[in-house]
Amino acid sequence: MKKLILIIAIVVLGALGFYLIPSHKENKTLVAYFSATGTTERVAKDLAGAVGADLFEIQPVNKYTAEDLNWKNDKSRSSVEMADKSTRPEIATKIKNIAQYDTVYVGFPIWWGREPSIIDSFIASYDFSGKTIVPFATSGSTPTTDEAAADIRLLAPNANVLNGKRFPTDVSVEELKNWANEAK
Ligand SMILES: Cc1cc2nc3c(=O)[nH]c(=O)nc-3n(C[C@H](O)[C@H](O)[C@H](O)COP(=O)(O)O)c2cc1C
Repeated sequence: MKKLILIIAIVVLGALGFYLIPSHKENKTLVAYFSATGTTERVAKDLAGAVGADLFEIQPVNKYTAEDLNWKNDKSRSSVEMADKSTRPEIATKIKNIAQYDTVYVGFPIWWGREPSIIDSFIASYDFSGKTIVPFATSGSTPTTDEAAADIRLLAPNANVLNGKRFPTDVSVEELKNWANEAK
């Protein structure tokens, strides 16, 4: 009997120890991003490092070429996609366990004042109920992510979608860290 109690105690303490070792704990924060030309990618990587989050790249099945990104051509792929809010470009990558995350930072370049259509595909692909979504973006001049946040709210009505923030392309790690602490 004593032996049995001892074995149970060892198993329970072992499991507890395994759980308490930080490397075995699941991260609760994710930084997911789409970046067509690398600007948002740099910010996303710095942000993930600053807040200790997992990082996930939203990769399109069909990558955007320079011609696809030509906003001066109203027939380019991005112009056509952005003209129709129901467009859902296919995503090549999948998050293994979305359930583990409480907070998901979603990063993107601002296109036509809002989030690129592939961000809509991303939001529509998962159940964000009860989670906090924090949009962040880079842009040439559009000053906020307010329009993107409003769109994301429609696609994830049961999530807490913050207004988020637009960053200039040269935002520092320090600024990202301060913002992430404020946004919490
Ligand atoms: C199709 C397209 C539309 C864009 N629309 C806007 C816009 O409405 N406002 C803005 O300030 N910048 C706009 N930009 C510029 C991007 O937001 C900016 O260059 C961004 O930092 C690029 O990020 P990335 O390198 O991660 O793709 C647009 C760029 C593209 C390709």
